[in-house]
Amino acid sequence: MGFDTKIVGSTNDYSKTANSDVVVITSGLPRKPGMTREELIGTNASIVKSVAENILKYSPDTIIIVISNPMDTMTYLALQSTGLPKNRIIGMGGTLDSARFKYQLSQHLGASAGDLNAVVIGGHGDTTMIPLIRLATWNSVPVSNFLTEEQQQKIVADTMVGGATLTKLIGTSAWYAPGAAGAALVESILRDEKKLFTCCVALDGEYGQKDICLGVPVIIGRNGWEKILDFGLTESEQAAFNKSAEAVRSMNDVLKTL
Ligand code: LAC
Repeated sequence: MGFDTKIVGSTNDYSKTANSDVVVITSGLPRKPGMTREELIGTNASIVKSVAENILKYSPDTIIIVISNPMDTMTYLALQSTGLPKNRIIGMGGTLDSARFKYQLSQHLGASAGDLNAVVIGGHGDTTMIPLIRLATWNSVPVSNFLTEEQQQKIVADTMVGGATLTKLIGTSAWYAPGAAGAALVESILRDEKKLFTCCVALDGEYGQKDICLGVPVIIGRNGWEKILDFGLTESEQAAFNKSAEAVRSMNDVLKTL
């Protein structure tokens, strides 16, 4: 078809990844119907740690995108085990969750998802993610102008269990939307697009949290995540964010026991 892309597949040889600009880690067990992402921690922690360390041997200057679950904890683990500068470690969760949020909104509004702006912050867990419906817009107009309170609540609830709903339907973890979201991040890095995504990144006081990786709005460009944007949360949104941080922090603590 005229593309010059070259692909090497099916190798266990890390030297084949040498000098990568970006590495996407999806390794680990996928969740099965009825499982939470958090239940995967024990097995996936050892896989992600070893993959991250091996990647680094051949691509010391790479940017790593972590997709493996539980994603917020795996991102934290990748940051710790590689010692890479924090801007080079990006967890892909919020980008996917925001896409699912826009899909849910599009269904209720009868709108094109491409006309919607909406972000999900916080953890990438069924109970830890925070769809920021207050800030969601349809071509700049707040969606609350067009949706009842009940509709908004349903959209938020359905967004939060989007991954679980798909897992139940297809019998394993979703992969199309996670793949598309990962590709959007890679594109923004390689083309230095400076797009705004919600990603899981190391916080150092931003959004009132530190020593944790959690989903916040960031600019994604050639240097990885380049800047965290402050969306000015309300008191209740900040409380939800803190609660999300607490849940993720207790998952991170499990790492110490492994
Ligand atoms: C999902 C998995 C990949 O949300 O976490 O689909």
